[in-house]
Amino acid sequence: MQKAPAARFARHLIAAAALVGFAGLSVAGEVEVLHWWTAGGEAKAASALKATLQAKGHTWKDFAVAGGGGDSAMTVLKSRVVSGNAPAAAQIKGPSLQEWAAEGVLANIDDVAKAEKWDSLLPPVVANVMKYKGNYVAVPVNVHRVNWLWANPEAFKKAGAKVPATWDEFFAAAEKLKAAGIIPIAHGGQNWQDFTTFEAVALGVGGTEFYKKALVQLDQGTLKSPTMEKVLTTFKKVKDYTDKNAPGRDWNLATAMVIKGEAGMQIMGDWAKGEFIAAGKVPGKDFTCAAAPGTAKAFTFNVDSFAMFKVKGDDKVKAQKDLAAAIMSPDFQEVFNLNKGSIPVRLNMKMDKFDDCAKLSSNDFVATAKSGSLVPSIAHGMAVSSSAEGAIKDVVSQFWNSDKMSAADAMNKIAAAAKMK
Ligand code: BGC
Repeated sequence: MQKAPAARFARHLIAAAALVGFAGLSVAGEVEVLHWWTAGGEAKAASALKATLQAKGHTWKDFAVAGGGGDSAMTVLKSRVVSGNAPAAAQIKGPSLQEWAAEGVLANIDDVAKAEKWDSLLPPVVANVMKYKGNYVAVPVNVHRVNWLWANPEAFKKAGAKVPATWDEFFAAAEKLKAAGIIPIAHGGQNWQDFTTFEAVALGVGGTEFYKKALVQLDQGTLKSPTMEKVLTTFKKVKDYTDKNAPGRDWNLATAMVIKGEAGMQIMGDWAKGEFIAAGKVPGKDFTCAAAPGTAKAFTFNVDSFAMFKVKGDDKVKAQKDLAAAIMSPDFQEVFNLNKGSIPVRLNMKMDKFDDCAKLSSNDFVATAKSGSLVPSIAHGMAVSSSAEGAIKDVVSQFWNSDKMSAADAMNKIAAAAKMK
């Protein structure tokens, strides 16, 4: 007798819960994620992100916009935000995070950061970039090194050349590869790719102090200096060793040329390693990684991160916060970066599952942070305002593509472009 009301109550509760589909109790939500990870290794890494979110019971809405370097993705993002339809999370990096936060569209995820102790898990230089006015608005995924030279050892053997450590050696090796009928350098002619080569030359020929003064501080005197002229002349000489189909080529197709041995080398960030790995190639055997010529003691960093936009609805907010927490978890940091070619941004991670390229990157990241030669990549949005970056990139590509522009002209135009705020 006494059990009857309780049993009836339980039956009612179950029936009511079934009717509302546990909606009131459930916190599963959807996260729409904008990214540009569509090439082989990138897509594998993006799948790891998706799986991590789904494991928490949430739904992943993919918003992939193809195009290396993310220029197209950023254009699409702007139009979505302007029309009041921002995704929950978007791949945004460096100073652009501040620009977006200043628009008032990013969410404060400090509660997640505090609960997960991000301040003690991230290098301070990275944590600061993720914060706007002291509050976290984004979560970092990785550290990419940009100043790498990828090479095909078979091609080098065929040409009797050795992987270069200086720019003089680079041109000597390029001559030998050319003589052996191999395209010396696989290049993709898009302005961010031109600039990836340019900043490697600037660092290798000019050195770290020059790089910082010219390209980070945008110091007019350094931008119009004999060193800058030498950097530009060396950069332009690299073009002589690229093929005529380079204009417009995607970066991953350039990597494929090195994988196949059609080309000997590529200067590219370590997302290129993601391509080699996705193609089943073994580092140290099928391909080699070395710092770009003259840059072994420096490190150009590029940190991928996801900005969190303001979203409505408790379920969506919960899903977004769960994603942010998951991104910083050790398991995710490991599996994502093994596929992406980068290294974990979370400090003190075990590197035993990573290859020698990643281990070198990890050691150099720590060493250069101490020595002061850890520098931001301009090509990948880490250093200057998006308007100055865009203007400087345009001039560098014009110079690369023009038969008429002299290094001195380019230098003056870059100095003028650097004044863009
Ligand atoms: C991003 C990488 C990406 C690369 C090529 C870079 O700007 O940081 O994550 O793989 O562009 O698309």
